[in-house]
Amino acid sequence: MIYARVAGTGSFLPGKPITNDDLVARGIETSDEWIAERTGIRMRHLAEPDVTASQLAYEASVRAIEAAGCQPSDIDLIIVATSTPDYIFPSTAALLQARLGITNGGAVFDLQAVCTGFAYALATAEKFIRSGSNKRALVVGAEVFSRILDWNDRGTCVLFGDGAGAVVLEASARPGILATALHADGSHSPILSVPGQINRGVVIGDPFLRMDGQAVFKFAVKVLGEVAREVVEQAGLTMGDVDWLIPHQANMRILQATGKRLGVPMEKVIATVAQHGNTSAASIPLALDLAVRDGRVQRGQKLLLEGVGGGFTWGAVLLEF
Ligand code: COA
Repeated sequence: MIYARVAGTGSFLPGKPITNDDLVARGIETSDEWIAERTGIRMRHLAEPDVTASQLAYEASVRAIEAAGCQPSDIDLIIVATSTPDYIFPSTAALLQARLGITNGGAVFDLQAVCTGFAYALATAEKFIRSGSNKRALVVGAEVFSRILDWNDRGTCVLFGDGAGAVVLEASARPGILATALHADGSHSPILSVPGQINRGVVIGDPFLRMDGQAVFKFAVKVLGEVAREVVEQAGLTMGDVDWLIPHQANMRILQATGKRLGVPMEKVIATVAQHGNTSAASIPLALDLAVRDGRVQRGQKLLLEGVGGGFTWGAVLLEF
């Protein structure tokens, strides 16, 4: 039996943290109290204008490859989950591969499932590894969401940040990913979208993130509860067997409501949203890496990673670390 096992994790946040008070100082009509009370967010990192998703992905990947004790040349598959790619093409994954100095390598591609992107990418890489076609995948979530925020819309611009997280997933006789579940319902796309495009050099439609916050909140709590139960049942386990719940870091209140619904106490939920806001596809691997490096997540523990985002998409990965 071939399992896909996380061999190493890494993450990267650009520049200095920007606090809620820093946003007020920049002229946004908000307050630390409003943001912290409604979302739990205290700060976020914003990339400089010339810093791209592939650069953030590179920094996180170098750390993950080092933690895995392998070389870039050992990687035979790269999947980058992102909604803020460097270019229309080539893919951010191809640019990352070049930055890592890998030539004549395996498949590279971007995966777009917004804030569920990392769960989708991890589940996809697992299929490649379990089939025997690939041995070592680099799975990355990397975003520069600051580029698609309307800084005049205080209801959204205070919520998001930039960053990247990565894991090396390798073939192993030991478990490994135990269960995955991916879902989508495109009929909910209007409640969270960037409804624009570039057409003949001109932006058509709206190039900024638009959201119905309350509708997103309700939907997120419902599906995060459902999909967490689904993977736990698939693996023949109970929620009590899960050592750490690592949800997409959108909002502290969503994390709390999800934990409550699942009967998982907050002491077993990794919450890093206060430190970096919602970094979309980067948030799950960022939270995972921070918890690995601060010693909370230990080898042999069972981790439940789950996300929800634009599309709408949602999904979960249950793994033994
Ligand atoms: N600072 C201060 N006031 C703000 C504000 C800000 N940054 N943003 C909005 N407000 C105001 C609104 O104008 C409104 O004022 P009014 O009552 O005078 O009209 C008031 O706060 C309430 O706005 P509302 O949008 O109803 O707040 P809310 O309680 O629903 O909280 C969110 C807004 C966005 C924090 C909340 O809906 C949420 O967390 N949704 C989920 C978002 C999410 O996680 N998205 C990503 C999923 S992948």
